[in-house]
Amino acid sequence: MTATNGLAIVRTVADLRAHLGDWRRASGSIGLVPTMGALHEGHLTLIRRARELSDHVCATLFVNPTQFGPNEDFAVYPRDEAGDAVKLADAGATLMFAPTVEEMYPEGDATRVSVERIGEMLEGEFRPGFFTGVATVVARLLIQALPDVAVFGEKDYQQLQVIRRMVADLHLPVHIEGAPTIREDDGLAMSSRNAYLTPEERRAAPALYRTIGTVAGNVARGENPDAQSRWATEILTRCGFAKVDYVTVRDAETLQPWPGPMRPGRVLAAAWLGRARLIDNVPVA
Ligand code: PAJ
Repeated sequence: MTATNGLAIVRTVADLRAHLGDWRRASGSIGLVPTMGALHEGHLTLIRRARELSDHVCATLFVNPTQFGPNEDFAVYPRDEAGDAVKLADAGATLMFAPTVEEMYPEGDATRVSVERIGEMLEGEFRPGFFTGVATVVARLLIQALPDVAVFGEKDYQQLQVIRRMVADLHLPVHIEGAPTIREDDGLAMSSRNAYLTPEERRAAPALYRTIGTVAGNVARGENPDAQSRWATEILTRCGFAKVDYVTVRDAETLQPWPGPMRPGRVLAAAWLGRARLIDNVPVA
């Protein structure tokens, strides 16, 4: 075990459990914040929220290979463990679990957690296997750490709902807390992948948030969701997005098509800007 500014760093499940066991014996509650590192203000807000909800906060740092497709950015995904450790300590985390791939996926590993329906649509359709990778690693982290609460961002709204479904279905004894999306001043949702944007693409990027915000307002006033999706796709294309995977209005819980104002709605979108694929979402309001 090593330490930075009061932040202990562990790399094995055995060390993680030893550390959390000490906390538990001192009767403190435990908050867990899973991340893939390259931390920004969005991640740090989750740490602070976990700190509000629990006595101790453990952040996990693991670029999870099973959630990346063969042509995706696993190899080049930004990594800065030393910088992340300093940020985590400042934000109030006291433990960082940064396992190796071999530790998370031991030799002979053969078990996957797949979440049907809600995990197969939208992101699940455009990134086959993505949510199975996410659910598998999050289930393992929850079972390894057995926290009282785990905090996830609404930035990845479908991921949050898939994890809620999985936790309910597997009866995992943990409260899942969602935290609001943190944005740059111009509205772009913070993301480690924003680093892939050229200066020109960065200037075009806030159009995604602006456009889904307009869709959310229009459908709340009774406009047709499908017509709004088509309009949004056209606007984004005109703003320089090369391909719009989807802009869609869904039931905020099940992510089935939005049945109308009797249910909370969510506008979700994914679109390509240069080599970056941006996702964002807002409530219907
Ligand atoms: P990662 O992309 O590193 O995100 C870690 C957590 O930070 C997720 O819960 C995500 O929703 C949240 N987050 C990211 N950007 C945010 C923003 N701008 N505002 C608020 N929260 C934000 O999501 C993953 O990692 C992985 O799929 C993981 C859950 C760790 C499983 O590997």
